[in-house]
Amino acid sequence: MDVVYAGDRITYKVIGGVLDLYFFPGPTPELVMDQYTDLIGRPAPMPYWSFGFHQCRWGYKDVGDLEAVVAGYANASIPLEVVWTDIDYMDAYKDFTLDPVNFPAEKMKAFVDRLHRNAQRYVLILDPGISINNSYGTYKRGLEDDIYIKHGGVPYLGQVWPGNVYYPDFLNPATTPFWSNEIKTFRDTVQFDGLWIDMNELSNFITSPSNVNSTFDNPPYKINNSGNKRPINERTVPATALHFGGILEYNVHNLYGFLEAKATHQALLNITGKRPFVLSRSTFVGSGKYTAHWTGDNAATWDDLAFSIPSILNSGLFGIPMVGADICGFARNTTEELCRCWIQLGAFYPFSRNHGDKTSDRHELYIWESVAASAKKVLGLRYRLLPYLYTLMYEAHLRGVPIARPLFFSFPRDTNTHGVYSQFLIGKGVLISPVLTSGAVSVEAYFPAGTWYDLFNYSNTVASKSGGNRTLSAPLDHINVHLREGHILPMQGEALTTQAARNTSFELLVALSGTGNSSGEVFLDDGEEAGMGGAGGRWSFVRFQTQRAGNRVTLTLDVTNPGFAVSHGWIIEKVTVLGLKNRSGAVEIPGLHLLIGKNFTLDLTAHH
Ligand code: GLC
Repeated sequence: MDVVYAGDRITYKVIGGVLDLYFFPGPTPELVMDQYTDLIGRPAPMPYWSFGFHQCRWGYKDVGDLEAVVAGYANASIPLEVVWTDIDYMDAYKDFTLDPVNFPAEKMKAFVDRLHRNAQRYVLILDPGISINNSYGTYKRGLEDDIYIKHGGVPYLGQVWPGNVYYPDFLNPATTPFWSNEIKTFRDTVQFDGLWIDMNELSNFITSPSNVNSTFDNPPYKINNSGNKRPINERTVPATALHFGGILEYNVHNLYGFLEAKATHQALLNITGKRPFVLSRSTFVGSGKYTAHWTGDNAATWDDLAFSIPSILNSGLFGIPMVGADICGFARNTTEELCRCWIQLGAFYPFSRNHGDKTSDRHELYIWESVAASAKKVLGLRYRLLPYLYTLMYEAHLRGVPIARPLFFSFPRDTNTHGVYSQFLIGKGVLISPVLTSGAVSVEAYFPAGTWYDLFNYSNTVASKSGGNRTLSAPLDHINVHLREGHILPMQGEALTTQAARNTSFELLVALSGTGNSSGEVFLDDGEEAGMGGAGGRWSFVRFQTQRAGNRVTLTLDVTNPGFAVSHGWIIEKVTVLGLKNRSGAVEIPGLHLLIGKNFTLDLTAHH
């Protein structure tokens, strides 16, 4: 379809499938997301660990190379939660196989075991194209089960990394069990923790000859394919290919990635019994119910750094809140400066992964000293904010509201926010204002009304009565992150893994509003059980609130399902209060021992 937006109207030019139009009245942005995801499916809960930092690269040579990357992060004391392998691990690019020379099973097993002992994780890539090769079990089982997409009565012959391939047809009910069985068998060899599904547009390296007389292969209206009105069959599966039940590719082309994500999610859930982590390149309406998303092959350019913000914000609005762009840039060589700015921003993507192309120079965060120093600082803050990010995941799963949000979400009435796309909010009140141009040492940023506190230095504040632009200083190692008055942030300690961070005690950062009111929440569960906040109740939800009565400001806690939090013994050890009347700067209340599951009232004005 072509979707043409012209300021005051939007035109859908749809040449296949089914077009249904729904209107979601809101009236607030939050309610639009609630209504929309009620229809299309609520975003899948993501495991706690997936909010840690991820490192990937196309072109890791062998297990030793992976080990060196893990060591590189450890030596630099930069958090590393998840190691990824791209297609390099496969034997001749065959899914569900290991390269016997560079990634042999025994070494891979030992490597993944070591990761797991260090509370780290492993994710690997799968592509849809199954290599045609009579000595390849997956291929043969696919033939036996008759699950490949057909063309002219035989499986359609495409070409991807392994050369000739057939593509599983995820519309066929037999494909999910086939796919699931392959995943299960392979996972018996390597205990991966999540799956990355790529090339699922469907990508094809060849364009098959098409029938120019067919209105499917050659429709009379030419959509703007690839921005250039290319033939619709170009480098994909022909529109006249057939899916299960005689359904034409023409009518289901856009659903491939969605259906593959659904099957992959189901497979992981059945096999592990735990919350699946799936990352998909292709998505469609409803994909958020099954998968996270990355924005695909960007380049190491300042433009692509800047574009990553509207891209991730859009994904959130499409109901896919777990999203990120390849940090430091995928294609082309990055630079120290660009990579440094990219991790400063990327540390605040909901999904934070560094990834690069095999033909470009390496850009792991420890390679340049200045990048490493910045990474420690920003990922340090990210890990302290994990309880906040995870609570936003819960909110996303419950009501569809994105984790990373455009400014207008919190300030719909401030029309100045409507066009802001070089800043964004995490949740309601944390504002990210990154450097997006080379050589910049300051940032022009928009601040909606209120007092905003710099999260790296609480005594730096921006106060604005009705909203306005500010020039913020942005030294090389710094990104501007501000918390708005009225919000309470649940934080934990800095650590190199999410598990270690979860074992530290809590700190509440309370930014009082002018009236002394503020609120915040934290959701707690084991981080990987299949559901999130469902029946069964192995979770707690805590609401924090402050109130002023005369000169006194008190903090209270109110908890749903206290049992879970109490059984974990999580405590609040420190409360930091910003914006107390007649006090400049932050007032710290350390040495507390407040059990998170128990209701309490704390007088914030009684401390000096
Ligand atoms: C595609 C993916 C990219 C991956 C490459 C090799 O280009 O988008 O992330 O590294 O294929 O698998």
